[in-house]
Amino acid sequence: MSRDYQALVVRKSADKSFSHAVETLSVDALPAGEVLIRVRYSGVNFKDCLSVQGNPAITRRFPHTPGIDAAGEVVESSHADFSPGDKVMVISRAMGMSLPGGFGQYVRVPAAWVTRLPDGLDARAAMVLGTPGLTAALAVAALARVLPDLKDAEVAVSGATGGVGCLAVALLAARGCKVSAISGKAQAQAFLTAIGASEILSRDQVVDASGRNLLPPRWSAAVDVAGGAMLSALIRQMRDGGAVAVTGNAGDTAFDANVLPFILRGVKLLGINTETVPADQIAALWRHLAGPGKPACLDRLHQVVALADLPVLLGRIMDGEILGRVVVDLA
Ligand SMILES: NC(=O)c1ccc[n+]([C@@H]2O[C@H](COP(=O)([O-])OP(=O)(O)OC[C@H]3O[C@@H](n4cnc5c(N)ncnc54)[C@H](OP(=O)(O)O)[C@@H]3O)[C@@H](O)[C@H]2O)c1
Repeated sequence: MSRDYQALVVRKSADKSFSHAVETLSVDALPAGEVLIRVRYSGVNFKDCLSVQGNPAITRRFPHTPGIDAAGEVVESSHADFSPGDKVMVISRAMGMSLPGGFGQYVRVPAAWVTRLPDGLDARAAMVLGTPGLTAALAVAALARVLPDLKDAEVAVSGATGGVGCLAVALLAARGCKVSAISGKAQAQAFLTAIGASEILSRDQVVDASGRNLLPPRWSAAVDVAGGAMLSALIRQMRDGGAVAVTGNAGDTAFDANVLPFILRGVKLLGINTETVPADQIAALWRHLAGPGKPACLDRLHQVVALADLPVLLGRIMDGEILGRVVVDLA
């Protein structure tokens, strides 16, 4: 086998600026690990964009290949659980942050990070879902645990054209919810309708600067990816007994809050962290996503890009031009 492969490499210059391009690397230079995987598809995530920009909260050592998600086949394994040819994925681990990630044709990782692709999910579909699909599924499951009437409920989703947001819209719509998709993108109407949104709102139609402790109740549940002013407004617009699944900080980490939504309306905040969920629960969720829980609109919510075109696409993603998921073809 040729030991050379193609990968997107982020480099840090002497003036501390960052650039990225596709380069040829050697498998022999990958860090030690139990399982060598030939990556077929990866998915572009929020953390990957931060890594490409040199954000030290994600990646400290450069040159670096981002890509927190990857799916493909095992090539070599020193661990008894995996053999060459096994179809596998790596989702939401340190890969792509402190170790070379899925924007390269090969990754070498600890066996504990590797999950077999469940029946019903090929490498491409696994990467359309990826970390955002898992996050959205965990958020919906958390809401369903505290809201027995989630089916048919009116639910708000912020960041609706992003990875977590669009998959939350799709999963909630598939359960029968009436989904209000909140987006900062004026051109998102057709996309969001196609994946199941019942109503499309701009961020300005939800965020509230009045400072009022309670706002007219609008939703029974919400999936928030934004934090900041969006989360503050969603909490104050929940109905009695409503719940907000908090998944991200795409807008801001801090948010204003007061106790009244909690003590007068019994609102619940549910924190979601994909990295701390026990492995058996994750495996059950993937089986569900590969089977009865697989969103019918997966084809409508992603586009595929060749590795050679990824540098240009990353710029467009970071400029907010892209709707839905971007999957990288590393064939
Ligand atoms: N908890 C976890 O385990 C977990 C897992 C994965 C991701 N996350 C976090 O979830 C968040 C979203 O991840 P993602 O993969 O969906 O990212 P993404 O694909 O980049 O989407 C983020 C979306 O947020 C919206 N947005 C951006 N800036 C905003 C602002 N200032 N105010 C309100 N909305 C804003 C945009 O959607 P619109 O233009 O449509 O509004 C954007 O497309 C990130 O903070 C990420 O770190 C958490």
